[in-house]
Amino acid sequence: MILTVGATAHFGRETVEALAATGAKVRALSRTPENAGLPAGVDVVRGDLTDAASLRRALDGVATIFLVLPYGMDPRALLAEAVDAGVGRVVFLSSGAVVDGADAQPDVIAAYHAGVERAAVASGLEWTFLRLLFPAVNTLSFAMQLKDSDVVRAPYAGAAASVIHERDVADAAAAVLTGDGHSGRIHDVTGPASLTQAEQVRILGEVLGRLLVFEELDDAPVREQMSRFLDAPFVNALFDLMAATVGRPAQVNDTVEQLTGRPARTYAEWVADHRADFA
Ligand SMILES: NC(=O)c1ccc[n+]([C@@H]2O[C@H](COP(=O)([O-])OP(=O)(O)OC[C@H]3O[C@@H](n4cnc5c(N)ncnc54)[C@H](OP(=O)(O)O)[C@@H]3O)[C@@H](O)[C@H]2O)c1
Repeated sequence: MILTVGATAHFGRETVEALAATGAKVRALSRTPENAGLPAGVDVVRGDLTDAASLRRALDGVATIFLVLPYGMDPRALLAEAVDAGVGRVVFLSSGAVVDGADAQPDVIAAYHAGVERAAVASGLEWTFLRLLFPAVNTLSFAMQLKDSDVVRAPYAGAAASVIHERDVADAAAAVLTGDGHSGRIHDVTGPASLTQAEQVRILGEVLGRLLVFEELDDAPVREQMSRFLDAPFVNALFDLMAATVGRPAQVNDTVEQLTGRPARTYAEWVADHRADFA
C-alpha cells in the first residue's frame, strides 16, 4: 500500500491518479476526505499531520509513503509514526533549490526542503528525493491578469525556468514509487526546455490564440505587496531564485524520460491542458 500525503493538491492528486491507473494499491491522506474527489478505488483516509493518532490509523498496512508537504510543515511526527508502523520507504517531493553539501542553505525554501530531507534520512526509512524547481502550475498566477487584459505584468521577464508539467512530476513519482533501485537516490526532474517568463507568456498566447504581452515590473514593490499576505522570507526566497536565473538558461535534463520512458511534456502541452484555467 502506498500512502500519499498532500493527495488533494497539485502534485499529490496527479500522482494518486497516475498510481491508481497502474492498479497499485493507493491510500490518500486528507483532513477532509469527503471533499477529496479522488478516483474510485483510492482509499481516502482522514488524517492530519499535526495529529499523531490520525496518522497511526492512516499508516496501517502501508509499505511506502509519497510525501508532498505544505510548505513549512514539520514531517517528523509522521516519520516517527511511519517507523513504528513498519513502513519501509519514503519518497519526498523536494525542491531543486536545495544545495547539496552546503554548510548553510541559500534561502528559506532550500533550508526547509533540506531539513525535511535530513529528517527522512535520519528516520532510518529507505528514502528517495524527487526535486523540482519551477512547476508550470506556478504560471497559473498569470491567469488572473489575463481575465481582463492581454498583458502580464510581473518582475523578471528574462527569468529562465525549465517548467515542468505536474503530470510529468506525477508520472515520475509513480515510476519511483512502483519501481526498484531508487533507494538513496535523488532525482532532479525538469521540463524539456529552458524558457524565460517572456517566452512562457508568448507560448501561452500562441496556444490560447491571443497576442499576449509581458510587461516587466520593478521587483521591489511586488515583493512588498506579496509579503502582505505571504511569509516575507518565502517571497524573498522565491524572487531571489528567479532573479538568479535572469540571463542564465535553466538546467534541462532527461530524468522524466529516464524514469517514465516518455519525454517530458512541453509548456505548450501544459497550456493546452489548462485552457479552461485561462478562459
Ligand atoms: N510550487 C513550487 O514552486 C514547488 C517547487 C518545488 C517543490 N514544491 C513542493 O510542492 C509542495 C506543494 O505541493 P502542492 O501545491 O501540491 O500542495 P499544497 O497546496 O502546498 O498543500 C496542500 C496539500 O497539503 C495537505 N495538507 C495541508 N495541511 C495538512 C495537514 N495539517 N495534514 C495533512 N495534510 C495537510 C492538503 O490536504 P487536505 O486539505 O486534503 O487535508 C493538500 O493536499 C511544496 O510545499 C513543495 O514541497 C513546490
